[in-house]
Amino acid sequence: MSSVCFLAGRTAALIPAAGSGTRLGRGPKAFVEVAGQSLLARSVAALVPWVDEVLVALPEGFPLPPGLPAQAILGGATRQESVWRLLHATTADVVLVHDAARPFLPGAVVTALLEAVSETGAATAALPVADTLVRGERGRWADLVPREDLWAVQTPQGFRRALLLRAHAAARAEGFGATDDAGLIARLGLPVRLVPGDARLFKVTTPGDLALAQAVAAVWDATCDAP
Ligand code: CTP
Ligand code: MG
Repeated sequence: MSSVCFLAGRTAALIPAAGSGTRLGRGPKAFVEVAGQSLLARSVAALVPWVDEVLVALPEGFPLPPGLPAQAILGGATRQESVWRLLHATTADVVLVHDAARPFLPGAVVTALLEAVSETGAATAALPVADTLVRGERGRWADLVPREDLWAVQTPQGFRRALLLRAHAAARAEGFGATDDAGLIARLGLPVRLVPGDARLFKVTTPGDLALAQAVAAVWDATCDAP
């Protein structure tokens, strides 16, 4: 039995894609193409096989490109606001929140995440930190930071929708802002399962990341993970 069979109820993919892509400098990032396909199209295609519906939050003046199997809503001024709006645009029991800016999403990560969510209600893809970590002081090596038990958090992140709504509502009430959703659950003292992510799930943030994405796409598009 596939792991997704453990889940009762409907599942929605929520894709915040309403950012302006300031650091990349190529306009709204979701619409930037890598090897002929936009970051948004790649993220949607990676999630479609695993969910009942896909919702994307887009910037004002940027309609959903034709042919994408998703529904669009208007995003907010922050990622958190965009996800808040997406959460209200679905009635699904389980939601997978995934940055449009992470176009290479292996199916194995999605299935592992769905299984973890069915058990704990909240889980995120994350990678154990491989580099040596050091705290710097004015550009000088100060202290070594033990990297054991340190993980770099990625998306997708999966939740029972009611739980994530509660965490978002609490954050809004307290004026708390975060760059991801699992952090909003953790700050309530609730468990978040860490599921092994993938190096290819890096977020396209800077022009250097886009060059890396071009290289990954050449391999990705030639393998079975390709849409
Ligand atoms: N995002 C969003 N709504 C916002 C801001 C961000 O939906 N108001 C989305 C982005 O489209 C992206 C994800 O959140 O898919 C992660 O954000 P980030 O990498 O910071 O993208 P941008 O905000 O577009 O980039 P920058 O911060 O460089 O402007
Ligand atoms: Mg941003």
